[in-house]
Amino acid sequence: MDFIQELAWNNRHMVRTANVVAQLGDCTGKKMAVSTHLDIKMLAFYEGYLRQGGELFVTTCNPTTVRDEVVEYLVSLGAEANAHKNMSDKAWQQSLHDALDWQPHYLCEFGAQLGSIYHQGAGNSVIASLEGTGSGVSALKSVKLKHPVFNWDDLDAKEGLHNRHMVGLTAWQAFMERTHLSLHEKKVLIIGYGLVGQGCAFSAKAFGGQVMVAERAPSRALQAAYDGWHCESLNDAVSQADVVVTATGVSGVLSEQMLTKLKAGAFVMNVGHVSHEIRLDAMTDYQVTELMPEIFEYRQGEHFFYALSNGAMFNLTAGYGDSLNAFDVSLALMAAGVKHIVEQSEAFPAGMHMLPETAWKPFLA
Ligand SMILES: NC(=O)c1ccc[n+]([C@@H]2O[C@H](COP(=O)([O-])OP(=O)(O)OC[C@H]3O[C@@H](n4cnc5c(N)ncnc54)[C@H](O)[C@@H]3O)[C@@H](O)[C@H]2O)c1
Repeated sequence: MDFIQELAWNNRHMVRTANVVAQLGDCTGKKMAVSTHLDIKMLAFYEGYLRQGGELFVTTCNPTTVRDEVVEYLVSLGAEANAHKNMSDKAWQQSLHDALDWQPHYLCEFGAQLGSIYHQGAGNSVIASLEGTGSGVSALKSVKLKHPVFNWDDLDAKEGLHNRHMVGLTAWQAFMERTHLSLHEKKVLIIGYGLVGQGCAFSAKAFGGQVMVAERAPSRALQAAYDGWHCESLNDAVSQADVVVTATGVSGVLSEQMLTKLKAGAFVMNVGHVSHEIRLDAMTDYQVTELMPEIFEYRQGEHFFYALSNGAMFNLTAGYGDSLNAFDVSLALMAAGVKHIVEQSEAFPAGMHMLPETAWKPFLA
């Protein structure tokens, strides 16, 4: 399928998002810097925003998930952009600064990379921003905010659907497509039992895996036990697992020392927001070979394991991400958030706010 054909197919199924765009109104002169995944599915909104006269500066929340054709397409529609797949950390940081130097009026983010720089700097162009990840909301809670920031990550319709149902399902779908293996007879260790970890656990079972959970928060560990999973300390579980999944949003959860304890031939997969949840960068004594697309063998003598997408968010890097119907709900919430900040945010004080129900409820039916 070529890019335009895929775009047309996607847009047919993004009906809620199209409904928000249809009610967006004139966005002429409204400058929005975006730091999000740059998947083709985002275009249903970004294209609409540009067609309504809005101005966009496009950078990314994660260089591993950028689709270069998406950036090129947005530039062809008049967006400014500084993002490409697997750009270096230095180039990525530069792109964030470029986005802020562009003097945006609004920020739309997954992970607060722009906000973390902006709120601690001297800039004052931004009127309001949107944040769509738990990691970003946490990061912004520790800084003094200069303007209203609207959290749409914690809406039930986003978290309860995308985090809980889509990540696990699509990560295992990509696992089977990429490895040509199923989960039968495999012990699957899920690290972190938030909504993402919960979805990974239930989907792994549905696909035949035997699920173990390592969760550091006692209440969530208890929830995992009541859900019927075998709960273990990470230290004990890591050497028993055939597939280890990180779903925490915390750097270094699967440390260098833990990686050396993996069973020979185990897989490690990250679905959390931070690529460094798995400390692959510290495995300097291991030889790294990409054996199949998105499957990297780490080997030192007889010990070897496979790192899926080399630790990047596997469902997005190696898979298609959310189904169109589910993504349409998430994108419609984000689009409704943008409509809210460009039309009404001046009524809100600086600080963190939940995106109000009045902003998104009309678009969920
Ligand atoms: N791959 C995707 O498409 C996708 C989609 C949505 C969210 N995410 C990301 O997935 C991550 C998890 O999301 P969530 O909504 O479940 O978050 P969450 O914060 O609710 O859950 C994370 C869990 O990890 C646990 N944890 C943290 N450190 C741990 C450790 N060392 N050992 C064991 N447990 C530990 C926490 O106690 C918490 O229960 C976040 O980074 C989020 O941004 C990814």
